[in-house]
Amino acid sequence: MERREQLYEGKAKIVYATDEPDLYIQYFKDDATAFNAKKRGTIVSKGIFNNHISAKLFQVVEKQGIPTHYVKTLSDREMAVKKLDIIRVEVVVRNIVAGNLAKRMGVEEGRRLPHPIIDLHLKQDALDDPMINEDTISAFGLATREELAQMRAYALRVNDILKAFFGERNVDLVDFKLEFGRSPADGGKLLLGDEITPDGCRLWEKGTGRKLDKDRFRRDLGQVEEAYAEVERLVTR
Ligand code: TMP
Ligand code: ASP
Repeated sequence: MERREQLYEGKAKIVYATDEPDLYIQYFKDDATAFNAKKRGTIVSKGIFNNHISAKLFQVVEKQGIPTHYVKTLSDREMAVKKLDIIRVEVVVRNIVAGNLAKRMGVEEGRRLPHPIIDLHLKQDALDDPMINEDTISAFGLATREELAQMRAYALRVNDILKAFFGERNVDLVDFKLEFGRSPADGGKLLLGDEITPDGCRLWEKGTGRKLDKDRFRRDLGQVEEAYAEVERLVTR
């Protein structure tokens, strides 16, 4: 497979076309942003860690029946993925109160929720990714009710799989964000896209609550690279 023109550059990844019409290449950068890019920086080797972590987690969920866009790992920073028409909705799943939920509800971080919460956000940086609801998504044609139901079901299933996976590694899966898209090569079938990495997850060491995710960068906690390296080690061991 050959890498062709750049199609899109995001905050943490670049997407390239390839000589195969149904395949793209995702290239993982070291760039880090937070608070919708009001804070910018670099996390040395993050792109390599995230490429490895995401590849492994896509394979883990795929094995349990979640269809993903992951095809294969090409290099330290590149994976081949299926071409997707990305649905501009971010699906956030939460198990423990943190981040925006703590702020919104005026409670401390760390409370375990009696059942997972799904928050839906519009994927639109210029608007700060506002939270939206199912009626808005359907009325604006971002996704159909059927697609939304499927996305929610997949997200909860991914949550069960990854909670168990990280649990076995002494880590609590606090929350995470997923993106889905329609695969033209599969008749518009819904696939899990984007990435699953510590950029878009909160991961706390069980017992100590030590943060192993991008909050170390967002909140200037130090040992940022070390945290990503540790997650890579845990996930790929
Ligand atoms: P939040 O507490 O800021 O809403 O984030 C919840 C989780 O979802 C956290 O692990 C980060 C992830 N997330 C993203 O990666 N990108 C986003 O745009 C949003 C809203 C959340
Ligand atoms: N990824 C988003 C940003 O770059 C949000 C975040 O991670 O804080 O601003």
